[in-house]
Amino acid sequence: MRWLVALLLITAGPALAADETAAARKRWADSPYGPMLERILPPGFEPSMLPQRASPGARLVQRYCVQCHHLPNPAMHEAAKWPPVFERMVVRMEGRGNMGKLMADMMAGVAAPKPEEARVLVAYLTQHAQKPLDPARIPEINSPTAEAFRLACQQCHVLPDPKRYTAKEWPAVVARMERNMEWMNRVVGSAPSRSEPQLRVDQINAFLAKHSKMR
Ligand code: HEC
Ligand code: HEC
Repeated sequence: MRWLVALLLITAGPALAADETAAARKRWADSPYGPMLERILPPGFEPSMLPQRASPGARLVQRYCVQCHHLPNPAMHEAAKWPPVFERMVVRMEGRGNMGKLMADMMAGVAAPKPEEARVLVAYLTQHAQKPLDPARIPEINSPTAEAFRLACQQCHVLPDPKRYTAKEWPAVVARMERNMEWMNRVVGSAPSRSEPQLRVDQINAFLAKHSKMR
């Protein structure tokens, strides 16, 4: 039986990934914790957006990392952050998580990566990780003109290097982040409050454009 599963893993990569996503949807639908799980990560990051999509690492992310929440983007975190985040996830996949009953209920049918797969996964996540902004190269980060960016963009991950995209490309990424914020905020069930500071998208885009990648 095991060899058959292994064979399916090798031959049916993308189809299997689709099955995993479908299985996760069903798990969320069946679980009283589904609404919480579905909000952990946002849905905007599609499998087609994974770097080196056909590589073993990308396939393993699609195999293991959609079992409890939407697909994670390796570029969400800087390289140093991935090993501890990954370890936290493996503990859960192995049924030793700190969310007790929740994960025990969810565990039926959840698979954990084998040690060799774990090595490939961590290597893939760190290789395609976020490059953090270097304050030595962009001292303006500590000035008031960078405040909107600084406050908004390090809530979920490190401040990204503005050189990652061109001035023309950034607004679409920032718009996706706005949607991410809306989606992930609802994990804690809070509605946007009128008294909270508003997201100053214009200032954020202006700062990013100023330090962005040249054409
Ligand atoms: C068994 C369920 C389960 C699986 C499988 C799983 N996760 Fe998670 N993940 C969670 C839970 C629960 C949370 C929310 C609590 C937390 O952040 O630890 C989470 C949160 C996250 C977050 C957001 C929190 C942060 O620190 O940024 C990322 C990123 C993430 N997981 C990545 C992954 C990756 C990569 C994989 C595959 C290697 C994976 N997860 C597999 C359960 C899982
Ligand atoms: C609510 C949490 C959250 C906040 C706040 C947030 N992000 Fe993100 N960010 C994410 C998540 C989740 C991902 C991975 C999924 C994705 O790419 O959409 C990500 C990924 C990224 C990436 C990598 C995308 C890629 O593939 O190149 C960049 C760059 C980025 N964020 C920039 C920003 C900027 C700029 C801001 C401030 C406007 C910001 N983020 C605020 C959650 C957040």
